[in-house]
Amino acid sequence: MTAPTADPGHLAFWGRPDAERAATFAALRRQDRPRWIPFRNRMPFVPTDDRFLAVVRHADVVAASRDPGLFGNEPTAASLYDLPPYLARYLGSMINMDGPRHARMRKVVARAFSPRLIARLEDGVRARAQRIVDDVAARGPGDVVAQVAGRLPVQVVCDVLGIPEDQHPLVTRHGETLVGFSDPEHTGIPREYLLRHGSPGPQHVLPGSLRIIRAGHDLTTLVRRIGRDRLREPRDDLVSTLVHADVDGERLTPREVGTLFILLVLAGSETTRATLAHALRLLTDHPEQRALLLDDLEGRLPGAVEEVVRHASPVIQFRRTATGDGEIGGTPVRKGDKVLLFYTSANRDEDVFAEPDRFDLTRSPNPHLGFGGPGPHYCLGANLARLEVRVMLGALLARFPQVRAVGEPEMLLSSFTHGVKRMRFAV
Ligand code: HEM
Repeated sequence: MTAPTADPGHLAFWGRPDAERAATFAALRRQDRPRWIPFRNRMPFVPTDDRFLAVVRHADVVAASRDPGLFGNEPTAASLYDLPPYLARYLGSMINMDGPRHARMRKVVARAFSPRLIARLEDGVRARAQRIVDDVAARGPGDVVAQVAGRLPVQVVCDVLGIPEDQHPLVTRHGETLVGFSDPEHTGIPREYLLRHGSPGPQHVLPGSLRIIRAGHDLTTLVRRIGRDRLREPRDDLVSTLVHADVDGERLTPREVGTLFILLVLAGSETTRATLAHALRLLTDHPEQRALLLDDLEGRLPGAVEEVVRHASPVIQFRRTATGDGEIGGTPVRKGDKVLLFYTSANRDEDVFAEPDRFDLTRSPNPHLGFGGPGPHYCLGANLARLEVRVMLGALLARFPQVRAVGEPEMLLSSFTHGVKRMRFAV
């Protein structure tokens, strides 16, 4: 099982079973300090710096998150490559910003995610979850991602923004394209090619870019159209807030609103759907934990959600870029160095979590970093995600106490999202 020599800088590593990946990170944590890892950068038109620093310990991920002055999110936090500007235009928004620009943008969006507004969403989320469970009862179980895990998060993020129901399939489709940028199914690149070469090749960049630009363009066009309507007739939704927002005397431009929309679709739906799928897999693999949960469903659900996020780490890592010279965990960094904060590893750090590989929904305290470390970019949607997972999982288990995953899940090939593409289930 152990493959400590496996290479997180090669895409093939991210196609290995979870336990093998966990063993590699355990070995990296045992090193005296964070290590540099070479990676394949075969992208044309961008600088070919070809290594990153793997920050793998809980304390180091916390320290780097707390020091945005040294570990910045610009130029990009969600990609190992410095994206060419024509691509960066469509992606990222505030996750790729630092300093006052980030703070201003975050302040506007944060209004829609305050605990008070999230509590107001609860009835709507419950109603949607109930309908999903009713559909499973009516049609029978098949793929839990398509029928359950993938539905609620897109619906909720669209409800928050004010995107009408008939546009949800388009949002789902384009969200999958954007998050699957290194997956064979979403890119059309043969799996063997990706596994052999470790990344898409130069010949894939143009078609890949076109797919991303098309998805980004369709999503921004949709939100611009809705934004124009809301400028005339504001409603109680986030698009109305955004188009009327006054950021230090300035309005957000249609492009800023568009990229924010893309960020929220990606950040809000892909992560939460992965969490729900992992929850069912974990409860299937650990029947004693399911029994414990069913014993006191409402009381134990909040702890279960935290433990699923810790154990599964739906977001594997985010990138930072050193803005000057400094160090992290004893390893020096210089301006421009790429630094990866591996939440997936911090969440299994044996210095913080007793028996870290054990799935234990009564774990307390559970200071996991699944929603990021303490810092300016800490997940803005953490409370909404908690609500969604708690309500959806609760509704599913209340109706089908024996609901379980069947067979092996089909995983997304990605070094960024621990995504599940399909997973059969039975009730
Ligand atoms: C279980 C589900 C989720 C997980 C595991 C997750 C995880 C994360 C992580 C790790 C970060 C980066 C933190 C950092 O860099 O310090 C992040 C940022 C973010 N998340 Fe989430 N997230 C989830 C759900 C959501 C939802 C439902 C939304 C909103 C609809 C959302 C919106 C955001 C936004 C806007 C950011 C960027 C914040 C910033 O740059 O200031 N997330 N999330």
